[in-house]
This record gives sequence, C-alpha cells and structure tokens, in this order.
Amino acid sequence: MRTPRAIAPVLAAALAASVLTATAPTATAASPDIPVANVQAHLAQLQSIATANGGNRGTGKPGYLASVNYVKGKLEAAGFTTTTQSFSTSSGTSYNLLAELPGGDPNSVVMMGAHLDSVANGAGINDNGSGSAGVLEAALAYAASGQTPRNKVRVGFWGAEELGLLGSKHYMSSLSTTEKDKIELYLNYDMIGSPNPGYFVYDDNPVGNTARDELTAWYTSKGIPWEYIDVQGRSDHAAFRSHGIATSGIFSGAETVKTSAQAQKWGGTAGTAFDRCYHSSCDSSSNINVTALDRGADLIGHMLWLYAAKDLGGTTPPPTGGNLLQNAGFESGATVWTGTSGPITSNSGRPARSGSWKAWLGGNGSAGTETINQSVAVPSSATAATLSFWLRTDTAESGSTAYDTMRAQVVDGSTVTTLATYSNVGANATYAQKSFDLSAWKGRTVTIRFTMTEDASLQTSFVLDDTALATS
Ligand code: PHE
Ligand code: ZN
Ligand code: ZN
Ligand code: CA
Repeated sequence: MRTPRAIAPVLAAALAASVLTATAPTATAASPDIPVANVQAHLAQLQSIATANGGNRGTGKPGYLASVNYVKGKLEAAGFTTTTQSFSTSSGTSYNLLAELPGGDPNSVVMMGAHLDSVANGAGINDNGSGSAGVLEAALAYAASGQTPRNKVRVGFWGAEELGLLGSKHYMSSLSTTEKDKIELYLNYDMIGSPNPGYFVYDDNPVGNTARDELTAWYTSKGIPWEYIDVQGRSDHAAFRSHGIATSGIFSGAETVKTSAQAQKWGGTAGTAFDRCYHSSCDSSSNINVTALDRGADLIGHMLWLYAAKDLGGTTPPPTGGNLLQNAGFESGATVWTGTSGPITSNSGRPARSGSWKAWLGGNGSAGTETINQSVAVPSSATAATLSFWLRTDTAESGSTAYDTMRAQVVDGSTVTTLATYSNVGANATYAQKSFDLSAWKGRTVTIRFTMTEDASLQTSFVLDDTALATS
C-alpha cells in the first residue's frame, strides 16, 4: 500500500495551475517566428525602389518591375524556381511572379499570394508592401528550414491588382482546368500592417475549408481578438474562389473607420480609418503598425508550415526520410494534436528539449488522465517506420510501486497496442530518446497516443518533446 504524504499546498496548487492554465502562449512562443525585422527590411527596400522611381510602384511604372526583380532575386537565392508571367493592361505591361520550391506532390498544390503593385500615387507600403514582405519572408524562412514539403508549395506575387485584380485573373485564365484543379488552397495577404490595425479573417468560402478556422484558431491561441470579414471580390483570392478553390486570408483594414468597440478590443483610434493613408501618397514607410506586421508575418508562416505538410488527399506518397508527424516538437501549440487541452504548453515549469513548447502530461498531484493524439498514415511503401520521442520524468513519489503511469500507444481502429509504459518508478529528469518499430502498421492510418494517469497525490510529470515518425 502506498503511504500518501502531504504535498506542500502551494506547490500542489502551482503544479495544478501550471497544467490547467498553460494553454496561453507567451509572446515569444510563435513558431516558426518570422523575424519582423526581416519583414521591415523588405519594406525598406520597397520604399527605396519607389523613391528611386518617381515615388510609386504602380502598374506600367519602373518601380513595379524593380519590385518584381527584388522579390525574384531573394526567392531564387533561397532555392525557389521562379517564373515571370507578363500581361498587358491599359497602363502598360504588368507581371506576375510565381515561385515554387522543389519537392512536394505536384498534384496537390498549396498557394499563398500577395499583390505587389501599388496605386499610381504612392509607394504602397501597407497596400501591399506589407502582404508582399510578409509572404516573401515566410517563404524564405520555409526554404531555409530545410523542411520536405508534402504538398507543392507555390507563391504568387500579383501585378495590377489595383486596376481590377488583373494579375490573379490572368494567372488563373492561363492555367488549364487540370492545373487549376491541382490547387487545394489559396491564401491571400493584402494589407497586414495597417497603422490603426484590426485583425480580420476572410469568411467568404467556409464550406469544406479548414484554413479559415486555422487562421482564427491561431489568433485565439495568441489571445488576439479577431473578426470575420466578407471580402467578396475585393482582392486576388476571388479568381481562385471562382474556380471553387478553397480560399481565405487576413486583412488589417483599409478605408473603413474603426468603431469604438473595435478600438476597445484592438487598441488604436476609434473614429479613424484602419489605414488613413489607404491609396494615398502617405502610404510610405511610416504607415505601418509593427505589431500588426509581426503578427501577420507569423501567421503567414504558421499557415505555410501547416499546409505544406498537411494531408490534402494528394496522389503522391509523402516524402520518406522525413518526419511524418506534424508539429512534432509542439512549437505550434496544440495544432494537429487532439485530446486533453492543456498539456501542450510553453509553461517554463518544465524545460522543453528544444524550442519552448512540449507536452507536459501529469504533474497535477491529483487523480486524473491526460491524453494527446495524432493521426498519421504509415506509408505502405515504407521499408522501415520508427516512432521516436524524447521523455523526461520527475516525481514526488518514492518506492518501487507505479502509482502514476504514461503509455505510448498505437491505436489502429479498435485495437490499442501499448508500446511502452513509463511510471514514477525510475523517473529520470534528463531527457532520453525512446524508439519503437512501427513497420507492423505499414499501409495503416493509425493514431499515435500518449496517455497519462495519475493517482490522488504526489505528482509525476511526464514531459515529451521532439516526437518523430521516420520512414525509409
Ligand atoms: N484589395 C484592396 C486594395 O488593394 C484592399 C482590400 C483587401 C480591401 C481586402 C478590402 C478587403 O486596395
Ligand atoms: Zn491591396
Ligand atoms: Zn489597394
Ligand atoms: Ca519543443
């Protein structure tokens, strides 16, 4: 029989609170964090381009082509293959810039885009230097991360949006129906740094479209209030939506005036436009709210990482050799993982093995069960499939009886296989890697489950990080 000892009440409360309230991320926990300084550096370049070219980056003007060349040079240096597509407008020739990364299923394309043109009478730093710079920096960060995308990642910088969405319409009309059908998602970023910002999520295509919900979930996870906006035909997602492609996007506001209710939740100035320099000559370097720009760029990065890796029903098997688990180091919070809310945390009460997030199961010192799950398809073509994770355990228990346990399991339909059981016995507060052969599940879609049960007193913390399902 176990002899319960009283855990110090303050410590018990702290441990319980740390697990129960640990879902709110800290300001630095965004992952991947897209450095806002790099986004600002792209904006400074776009401003210089405008300044050197008569103060604008408008269609048919030299500042537009110089903007295309700047973005193209950055993308190519990072390993993207680019294509420039020209088309004519009443103001002269314009260009779309398309960029793709090597790898990824060519039959399952995920796209993001931003218009790169300004209006004729200004530098267009918020509209739409901000979306262009955010998309560019997220794309560069993704390329630099060395991820192997599951889907084909394609990025579009559109010309002549300000003349009636001409570039995105031209692009879509240049594709065959077969090529259009391969596009699973288009995310649009037109104005993300408005000086008196709001946080709007496009709500125009919700059916079967989880991207909209992923966008709002990110804001919610950061404690940022958001609103839906019906953008209708006001930006470049429209040509994609017309073809039935799932679309969404974010927007920090243009000529519309911020209400007092909106100023209460977002700060800023009620009775003033979200961007009072919208389409004006004052849309220059100082017309940016850096917090909005930072949040927007991080969210663009979040969506890119998420959708590059997501199973969208493509026809090519996922890459081998990579990690089939998503958000495997928990740095995107609870994204993709299901189960008990709370264990996936950046709470500093226990260290992460890498980054700042981990799954902290248990540690409550009270009776309870906590479980996290992720579904994964183990490719039938794999010769080997290995599940691994890093585990760190500490306990207030003593003795050789397992009072608190954590199991690593594979759930295949109604069959649950326990790969290993860990307990307070032999708790080790140094991270150690555990590995299991999952080749028996080749060709099966299974759930990887970590499930913890604690008894009524004396905490045991099972802290997991850096999970992987590697195949070859
Ligand atoms: N497309 C508009 C422009 O470039 C901006 C906008 C975006 C307006 C989304 C409303 C909603 O001027
Ligand atoms: Zn715009
Ligand atoms: Zn505009
Ligand atoms: Ca981590």
